[in-house]
Amino acid sequence: MNKLQPRVRFFNYSSVKAALGYDDTTATYTHSLNGDWQFQYLASPLDIPDEFFTAAYDKMQWSTIQVPGHMELQGYGEPNYTNLDFPIPADPPEVPSKNPTGLYYRTFDYQQQLDRQILRFDGVDSFFKVWVNGQSLGDGHGSRLMTEFDVTDLLVEGENTIAIEVDKWSKYSFLEDQDQWWLSGIFRDVTLLDETALNDIQITPVFKDDQWQARIVLGETGDHFAPVHATIFDGETAIINTTLTDPETMIDVPDAKEWNDEEPNLYTLVLSLSEDGPFVPMRFGFRRIEMLDDQICLNGVPILINGVNRHEFDPRRGRALTREYIRSEVTQIKSLHINAIRTSHYPDAPYFYDVCDEIGLMVFDECDLETHGVNGIDAPCKDPYWKEEFVERGQRMVHRDFDHPSIIVWSLGNESNFGPNFVAMANAIRAIDPSRMIHYEPDQETVVTDMYSTMYTAIDELEKRATRYGHIKPHILCEYDHAMGAGPGSLQDYQDVFRLYPGLQGGFIWEWKDHGIAQDTPTGTKYVWGGAFNEPVNDGIFCIDGLARPDRVPSPGLVEFSRVIQPFAFFVAQNHVVVRSLYHYRTLTDLTLRWTLVSAGVEVASGNEPIAALAAGRLSHVLTLAVPAGSLEDAQLTLSVVTNEAVGIFEKGSVLAFDQVAYHGVPAQTPADVKVSFSPSKLVLTCNDSEVRVDLGTGNVAQLNLHGTSVLRDEMALNVDRMPICNDWKIMDDRKQDHLAPLSYRLEHFAIAKSEDTVMVLLQQRVKPLVRQWGIELETMLWISASGLSVQTRGWFDGEDQPTEVPRIGYDLPLTAPAEKISWYGNGPTEAYPDSYLSCPIGSYERSRAEWGFDYVVPQEAGNRMGVRRASVTLAQTQTALQVTGAEPLNLNVVGAGGVTLQAETQTDDLRIDAKVAGLGSNACGPLPLERYRVYTAPFDYAFMLHF
Ligand code: GAL
Ligand code: MG
Repeated sequence: MNKLQPRVRFFNYSSVKAALGYDDTTATYTHSLNGDWQFQYLASPLDIPDEFFTAAYDKMQWSTIQVPGHMELQGYGEPNYTNLDFPIPADPPEVPSKNPTGLYYRTFDYQQQLDRQILRFDGVDSFFKVWVNGQSLGDGHGSRLMTEFDVTDLLVEGENTIAIEVDKWSKYSFLEDQDQWWLSGIFRDVTLLDETALNDIQITPVFKDDQWQARIVLGETGDHFAPVHATIFDGETAIINTTLTDPETMIDVPDAKEWNDEEPNLYTLVLSLSEDGPFVPMRFGFRRIEMLDDQICLNGVPILINGVNRHEFDPRRGRALTREYIRSEVTQIKSLHINAIRTSHYPDAPYFYDVCDEIGLMVFDECDLETHGVNGIDAPCKDPYWKEEFVERGQRMVHRDFDHPSIIVWSLGNESNFGPNFVAMANAIRAIDPSRMIHYEPDQETVVTDMYSTMYTAIDELEKRATRYGHIKPHILCEYDHAMGAGPGSLQDYQDVFRLYPGLQGGFIWEWKDHGIAQDTPTGTKYVWGGAFNEPVNDGIFCIDGLARPDRVPSPGLVEFSRVIQPFAFFVAQNHVVVRSLYHYRTLTDLTLRWTLVSAGVEVASGNEPIAALAAGRLSHVLTLAVPAGSLEDAQLTLSVVTNEAVGIFEKGSVLAFDQVAYHGVPAQTPADVKVSFSPSKLVLTCNDSEVRVDLGTGNVAQLNLHGTSVLRDEMALNVDRMPICNDWKIMDDRKQDHLAPLSYRLEHFAIAKSEDTVMVLLQQRVKPLVRQWGIELETMLWISASGLSVQTRGWFDGEDQPTEVPRIGYDLPLTAPAEKISWYGNGPTEAYPDSYLSCPIGSYERSRAEWGFDYVVPQEAGNRMGVRRASVTLAQTQTALQVTGAEPLNLNVVGAGGVTLQAETQTDDLRIDAKVAGLGSNACGPLPLERYRVYTAPFDYAFMLHF
């Protein structure tokens, strides 16, 4: 047979320079057969005239068609949109005899240049037969896979003819039931190639003993392996020059620059059998994909997929995309901070991968396989009849795309049930390429896949699985946050859980873009969906479910997505800002923090602060903004990170991230001398004569010295419990099961940013109860300056057994001495709770310890003060005044040591500074507090300051 075995897609060039240019449209030994072809459209293959493929057959009455292109978008038949239903009887492998058929014919001139001639089809939908010079070559299928034929013996010098029959429906259509328009024809390039004996090139980057190597496996035609000249280029510079004398060779590449989606460093291997060519270039990259600690890692760093599912679609050309279209669309995707694409649900046009390699996107390359409409008990994946076809589809994808560094995962297909044919396919893929991971969503038991994959999973379900104990495979959402129409909502909520749980490694939004077909009307272009062509079976607007319109205008949802996945986060304390890089690999230099302060709609101040080189995952130094002293009304500080120079596809002056925070003014600053040091188990932060010590085991502030006086007898820690009140008694049995106290604390990461007079410490802590699986993930920014210690905390509850409510959320500060006197500005003078405070107007109050709580006959929680803007707690003995202010009004309470009532026999007290406190209700005999007065275990965020 003339059909070639699956292999990589490559081209021969006449010079090294041209080879490095990597533009196959200019490759010397490449003859494009794209363009106008003669065409005859028939209602059925039964109508095909005899000998139509010969030159002698009269084609005077034939029309013309553009190749590449779809028949239906050029006036032959009509598009039909269905999601999973077949617009033909679901009767595999039979297809109707009324089966639209296109006959294609053209001539071309050819002069032989090299030994072998190959005819390559990059995509024909769905089944075709080829004749060259009247001779049958064979047939092809697998609409979005490459098919090649050896035509060496069939070509003649001078004019040649080629004829092709394309059937819209074939038995293979049952394997290609993706949710999209049914569009047929020769929709990708047709190319005639002159080749030498060089037949296949597989380059695998291998990292061994801290050293990169390239494993090169070559295929040649003929019986003996002919030595091959090989040069590896970094850009235009040859870095390695060698001769390969075996089909398999390892080449050391010292100091190789790695490929990742942020820094897509590429190398080109140029091969030739003879010194003077022809030259075959193959781009590749050094990167490794491996499982570390149950996480998918790229070059040792766990990946976080912020991806989109992308169909190939141009509203006028369908899946017949031009290179310009591919490049501009992929560049647009990259410019939105999206870092990954799943080629839903078939391998894309080859040029797509070149662009992803070059600009840096991680790709899940998905096989052309979806049997959605016939997924019953006798689904094709379970039927031996289809086994070979499954295996071959996998092999053809992997061979074609083998060398692209952007591809990190092979995906076996979509929505095709799970069965033995997938096991065979996965085995075949691993046999060719064990270096990448395998994905397939319906393999819910991860029999053959390296990751667990789901679609549209609710956030609480994600969290449940993420907190399950034991060894599990990482979880990827191959589709989530369906973007149909307005929306999708909760993008940030998904992002929060992705960033929180190591086992949740992100996902792909469904989907990138609407596939509406463009129609010109007197009033402009409109985009139509299923049913527009009077298709009896169609799925209406389900193809209009993208983040971008068909013309790629971003929807508000896409703008939001880009904001949610922006590569920088901001921490703000008064007029101090720390920028944190969320990149995984790249260090960025030449960035500016641009800021504007607006009060009641009027700009008060603005400026630009240079950000020194910022490494991946790190904190910048502290940037201090020159804002006017004093407080401002309704003030917002808007911050953005702007590039000073072009970075990758981002031009100079691009805004990479922005945020806005409420601004509360800056108290007059006294000069400060800030130092950072480490004692064995503590991080010591000194400012003038005050000191804060952070325990490196728990991450809690363990010591606080105010001008030489120690005010904490134990760690200041986040807690969620309080003494029960009578109205809690009925729920106490349940609450006990939650084990709200005591909690334990573990520091997971910390980072320090310092300037002369201030230091910021970012702490990531894991907080856990006894017995139970739930926990709290805490991220706290401590900021120390002459004014004091400011604490800014964000937290998320997680775990399958997490409580839905807690009585409070806040910090306990175990004091070194009883609180002798408390003065505050807030609700008062007596205790106040969210459902009982009208008798407590806001004002300035002072109370002694004895006057603080209410002496309930049955001891219980008492004494909370709400709406506290500022407070001063004077400790007995030392008379030290601990001064507290809240960014927003706080809850504040003084309780006996360990959280008991002040009447209990305790030597000292705890000060509570709470973000949230539950209401009281009357449940001892009546109802629980109204929902709005309860404290749910939702994410929380609050800030306060302890003044020096
Ligand atoms: C998924 C499917 C996608 C698309 C989506 C709905 O189940 O994999 O191809 O159909 O639903 O828009
Ligand atoms: Mg489907």
